[in-house]
Amino acid sequence: MSGFSIEWLTRREPYDRRARNTAVLAAVARSVATYPSARVVDIACGTGATLRAMSGVLPQRQSWLLVDNDLSLLARAQPAPNADVTVRTTPLDLVHDLETALDGPVDLVTASAFLDLVSAEWIERLVTEIAVRKLRFYAALTYDGRVGFEPADPSDAAIVAAFHRHQRTDKGFGPALGPAAAATAIGLFERVGYTVEQGASDWILGPADDLQMEKVAGFAAAAAEIGGVAISAIDGWAARRKSLLAANSSHLRVGHIDFFAYPTGRR
Ligand SMILES: C[S@@+](CC[C@H](N)C(=O)[O-])C[C@H]1O[C@@H](n2cnc3c(N)ncnc32)[C@H](O)[C@@H]1O
Repeated sequence: MSGFSIEWLTRREPYDRRARNTAVLAAVARSVATYPSARVVDIACGTGATLRAMSGVLPQRQSWLLVDNDLSLLARAQPAPNADVTVRTTPLDLVHDLETALDGPVDLVTASAFLDLVSAEWIERLVTEIAVRKLRFYAALTYDGRVGFEPADPSDAAIVAAFHRHQRTDKGFGPALGPAAAATAIGLFERVGYTVEQGASDWILGPADDLQMEKVAGFAAAAAEIGGVAISAIDGWAARRKSLLAANSSHLRVGHIDFFAYPTGRR
């Protein structure tokens, strides 16, 4: 078990799909458009959201290797969307076995909603292993620290700051980069001579979006767990945000970055 429930991944998937940056996705698609078959490794695949989001924009023939350390999520990551797409799953702990996941004939490595969980050291290793193999890398939906509530509440800043402290705790890869992950990865790819195309993939949530209530509960739970803000202040904040939601007048933007990194001269 990774702590990411099937229910949570299922609920966020349509929001993620809508938020994906279309220009970045199109750049990925162009880079393999002439290939007779696209060979993709999706790291930390969960239940296969990236496969479902991308299979329609890649060449018709595709082979996917889906990698995760959570067997119950991996079990949901099948079947293939059609007969031209082959899908294999493999259980791997990416803390130890990243290199195994990347070995073999691969055109593209993908990840979504993952990089903010990992440490600076692990990202450096990822960039090195991708670059020595001259692979392309597409990372979608990396949280980037931008949170905007409308209307604002005086406690928003304290709750979001606590959430960010929680984001930086160790998720198994060492101290997580959290909101700094995408910028760090992009900088490292540029340093090894890769070209990077990037764009925002924010969740823009209105009062009718169930995910907004879940995010309010998630911010409050993270703030309570990490400490530093009085529980009464957290409860008061959550109650005010829930009443605004009940009155159909709360909006929330959660910032994400999508990027596509590729060896220069290889598109
Ligand atoms: C937020 S989920 C994203 C899942 C999927 N990419 C998506 O967009 O729905 C993070 C994923 O990272 C996986 N994960 C976390 N630590 C891992 C590790 N050490 N090795 C492999 N996968 C890991 C979790 O099991 C989970 O599927």
